[in-house]
Amino acid sequence: MDSESRMWRPLRWTGDALVLLDQTALPYEERYLECRSLEDVAAAIQEMRVRGAPAIGISAVAGLALAVRAVLGTPEDWRAVLERAIDRLASTRPTAVDLFNSLDLARRRVGRAGDAQEAQRILAGLTEELLERQWAIDRAIAEHGAGLLPAGSRVLTHCNTGALGTGAYGTALGIVRRSYELGRLQHVWITETRPRQQGARLTAWELQREGIPFTLIVDGAAAWIMARGEVDAVIVGADRVARNGDVANKIGTLALAVAAAECRLPFYVAAPLSTFDPTTPDGRSIPIEERDASEVLRLNGGWIAPPGTPVRNPAFDVTQASLITGIVTEAGVILAPDERKIAALLAGRGSGDREEERDER
Ligand code: MRU
Repeated sequence: MDSESRMWRPLRWTGDALVLLDQTALPYEERYLECRSLEDVAAAIQEMRVRGAPAIGISAVAGLALAVRAVLGTPEDWRAVLERAIDRLASTRPTAVDLFNSLDLARRRVGRAGDAQEAQRILAGLTEELLERQWAIDRAIAEHGAGLLPAGSRVLTHCNTGALGTGAYGTALGIVRRSYELGRLQHVWITETRPRQQGARLTAWELQREGIPFTLIVDGAAAWIMARGEVDAVIVGADRVARNGDVANKIGTLALAVAAAECRLPFYVAAPLSTFDPTTPDGRSIPIEERDASEVLRLNGGWIAPPGTPVRNPAFDVTQASLITGIVTEAGVILAPDERKIAALLAGRGSGDREEERDER
């Protein structure tokens, strides 16, 4: 996918706008949205025009840059503006920890800025840096993950973890891409991913444009396809990895992990270190976003249940570490993840951000 696909950018920073491919319009329309203010970015995240944990994290930093830019040359207290912008962005989606990790990183980076101009320059630079860094992170995940798959693998994946979800190469879908490139992948099963259809609308769109052989199934068909022996491995993304290795990801992930365990299939999670949350001890403490009932009651503008039907719409679930064969990160694979192994990986490799924390202490 290299040089040609790198020209296709679902997320771009122009210096005065965040330009994003509106994921609510896909696959029917390739519409780019120019976010020129904090509120544009916050609304785009909330409405899932940009989605996927890493893409949300990067977009949030762009939102901060735009918030500070808006008060350049005015008497406004830019630090107060920044804090309000952080609060606004933090209120958009609660589960993906990349959002909160990015906001923390941005706050630390501007810590020593002398004025609004310098702060804006730092935030704009950080947006570019994160976009660039994500590419290297995704490629490293893809390389480690492809190494886990035997030749001729048939992989099942959920939701969308591709370029759209990270702004770069993708995590779980990056592994799919790289395995295909290496000739190790025979086929991909993609789940529809109710209620927002990220699999049907977005993953199908990404795979189709790259010519990777795939088949779309409804979420309820996954266990049956696994039980029939038509899957060799399940690979999904993550929105938050707790300290003990429990993983929050798109609703439906837990059901896939249970079915994979029953069928004795490896179940891998692909996640950058920015998706790890060492402050959350286990899955029970991960905040799970509950979204509007209309997402369940309506599809493509039409009702699929009687109006007024009671609905519960959790956007994520938690898969316990014991069901996970391995977590694939840019720093390597953690097999049979647990607290000790995760702590060792984070301490050994850390990320640039953790180094920075040490420097600033
Ligand atoms: O609600 P979404 O579409 O933002 O949820 C996305 C997921 O669950 C992805 O698996 C995760 O964010 C990783 S994207 C690389």
